[in-house]
Amino acid sequence: MQLIARRIVRYSLITLLSLAVLFALGRYSVMVYGGQYHGVRAPYLQLPSPTTMGLRWQTPNSEVGVLQLGTAAGVWGRRVLENHAAEQHAIDVTGLTPATRYYYAVGSEQRMYYGGDALHFFETPPLPGSALDVRAVVLGDPGYAQDGAQARVTQSVQAWLTQHPRPGRADFDLLLATGDQAYTSGSNPQFQSNFFIPYQPWLAQVPIWPTYGNHDARRFAYFHIFDLPAAGQSGGVASGTEHYYAFDHGQVHVVVLDSQDSNLSTGGSMYQWLEKDLQANRQPWLLAMFHHPPYSKGSHDSDQWRDSWGRLVEMRAHFVPLLERYGVDLVLSGHSHMYERSVLLDCHYDVSKTLTPAMILSQEANGHYIKTGPIHSPHQGAVYAVVGSSAKLDDGPLNHPVMARSLHERGALLLDIQAETLQGNFVNEQGRVSDSFSITKNTAQPALNRDSCQSN
Ligand SMILES: [Fe+2]
Repeated sequence: MQLIARRIVRYSLITLLSLAVLFALGRYSVMVYGGQYHGVRAPYLQLPSPTTMGLRWQTPNSEVGVLQLGTAAGVWGRRVLENHAAEQHAIDVTGLTPATRYYYAVGSEQRMYYGGDALHFFETPPLPGSALDVRAVVLGDPGYAQDGAQARVTQSVQAWLTQHPRPGRADFDLLLATGDQAYTSGSNPQFQSNFFIPYQPWLAQVPIWPTYGNHDARRFAYFHIFDLPAAGQSGGVASGTEHYYAFDHGQVHVVVLDSQDSNLSTGGSMYQWLEKDLQANRQPWLLAMFHHPPYSKGSHDSDQWRDSWGRLVEMRAHFVPLLERYGVDLVLSGHSHMYERSVLLDCHYDVSKTLTPAMILSQEANGHYIKTGPIHSPHQGAVYAVVGSSAKLDDGPLNHPVMARSLHERGALLLDIQAETLQGNFVNEQGRVSDSFSITKNTAQPALNRDSCQSN
């Protein structure tokens, strides 16, 4: 009897183990298969620096990629060939002039697929520290193209950009995306249909800076598609990984963190890299971006450990204190599919009920915040924005007490950053600016006496 029981247990274990192995293999092959895309992909821009630009595109067959480049449309000064045939093409052009427009065309030796017209150009970033103003479009969880909402938001943003032109310059400089760039699974075909095709006109002209979201992590496509500055190619300290990185654009330094798959503890390598990068930063404006919001009462709840396996809580408890110690100005997140924008906040690292009046540095009704003291003074306050509704819109209580604005609206956030002022405008699906805020730096006034949270 005992022998029979033991055999049953043994066979059950073997069956269970075999099923687990089969499931893991199946899952792995789905992830690998979902990383593939065969077809044409229009050009997009990666790894910019004042003197370099990377162009990426795809052709349906394996061909040697060709890039033509010039300072006027169709008037080519340079022709660059790849040194091998491929479907996925990557050419990094060097020796460019900072803050200069270059027109381009890309294709293969057989034919040029894209460009050669007035719509295909890029502008190299200015030198770090340049006083040239910077404009960014922030897309939140943008990768859903099925119901027309993404197109309406994109059209509204483009209309705003057209109404607020920058003569002689591209409509904007930075395309920031807060994660979940391709629903539902982050597969390569979904990136094509939900991200590259809908945003093609912008991607042709402006470098895309993505953030790793939970939906991007479901397939092996994100890191195939994006080349991110792990070696510090775009400014900032080399992170050694594409999961998190930093870059400079003129007077703006941006750190992009991975709240999805990286170690979120203060002893982890992302934290250690971030501290080094923040110590080295010399640009006056400091922006941070990661997918899981430290403050949200939208379709995700930052008070709940069980929400997204504690990632929102950990980002707030571990990374927000470090960012505030180095004077972060604006923190961008997504994941909650709505729009929430905080007051000027400092030292709020626990659940929302622990918020005290001392943590709110300005209640200014119209959202015009002033930070005083030398740049990077610690704990002078930061604005936290959840931008997660550039395509999807979900429900939630929208009652987080740090938020000055909580909107159940689709839209995108536009940033205009000048020497002393950062202006934010949330353009909604109907083309209306439904939130505005600004941060002005007055370095002539002494900083608030807030060296650490304990001293407040
Ligand atoms: Fe998400």
